[in-house]
Amino acid sequence: MTLNDFLAAEVRRVDAALDRLTPPESAHPATIHRAMRYSLFAGGKRIRPILCLQSAATISDEAPAALDAGCALEMIHTYSLIHDDLPALDNDDFRRGKPTNHKVFGEAMAILAGDALFTLAMQTLVRVEGLPDAAKIRLIDELAFASGTVEGMIGGQVTDIEGERQTPTPELLDCIHRAKTGALLRAALRMGCICAGGDAAQMEALSRYGEHVGLAFQIVDDILDVEESSEALGKTAGKDAAQGKITFPAVYGIEESRRMAQEQCVRAHESLAPFGERARRLHEIADLIVQRKS
Ligand code: IPE
Ligand code: IPE
Ligand code: MG
Ligand code: MG
Ligand code: MG
Repeated sequence: MTLNDFLAAEVRRVDAALDRLTPPESAHPATIHRAMRYSLFAGGKRIRPILCLQSAATISDEAPAALDAGCALEMIHTYSLIHDDLPALDNDDFRRGKPTNHKVFGEAMAILAGDALFTLAMQTLVRVEGLPDAAKIRLIDELAFASGTVEGMIGGQVTDIEGERQTPTPELLDCIHRAKTGALLRAALRMGCICAGGDAAQMEALSRYGEHVGLAFQIVDDILDVEESSEALGKTAGKDAAQGKITFPAVYGIEESRRMAQEQCVRAHESLAPFGERARRLHEIADLIVQRKS
């Protein structure tokens, strides 16, 4: 199966699971469920759940828990995007090719939809089938840590916003990107490993791969913000420079940023050495993360 066909099938599988896990629009109070579903099903790439599934598949042919664990990651990611777009944060009107959540449902409902996706993610992990409680607790710990304030997504968002008024430095840039984006991508790999019952050495190798693709992912996000159109991205292009964000192109320039993304990609490939052919899709996804145009 080609990578594109494989990814399209994985997206359909993730979408079906998210639909099963999320209350229907008809559930009372309907507005919040409409708002949650609006952003969840607006057409994300589903890269975090796919990485979680592939991490598990690298270790075992049987790891059914990885699907719902991946959905929990996507819920947190979608919540982070809804909040990232709010007027108080990046103030964005477009996301995933559609008006942002607060543009459609208003700020109050967008804040609550983000909050609700967070709690739904935690509930999803508590209810994951086919895992002992100890493994579920490890999943919750991984996701809460990666979403949190210390080296996690929220901490990274804080540093990103405060950085708008600071001199861009390589240290600040590295700290922002590893936290706001890298932490959740790394968690995707670690959670897949937990679902598949991986050992410490496998966890270490997959974490390293996650760190490298996580950093590459945000370097490329920064480059695309400079180089691509809003139509291609499905979100407003050119916003980072307009808002004085600390980005890779701002600190290193485009050419050096491209080289650094490629370097992270090479190191991601190297991290997969222990897995041989089983990691074929993870190798392909690392290349895709660096070559993507949206
Ligand atoms: C965008 O993430 C925000 C970042 C963390 C860079 P994605 O590029 O994964 O967005 P979707 O999920 O495909 O919309
Ligand atoms: C957002 O980074 C990261 C999170 C949502 C945690 P950006 O602000 O660069 O994401 P985009 O470019 O709006 O998708
Ligand atoms: Mg932002
Ligand atoms: Mg943003
Ligand atoms: Mg961006």
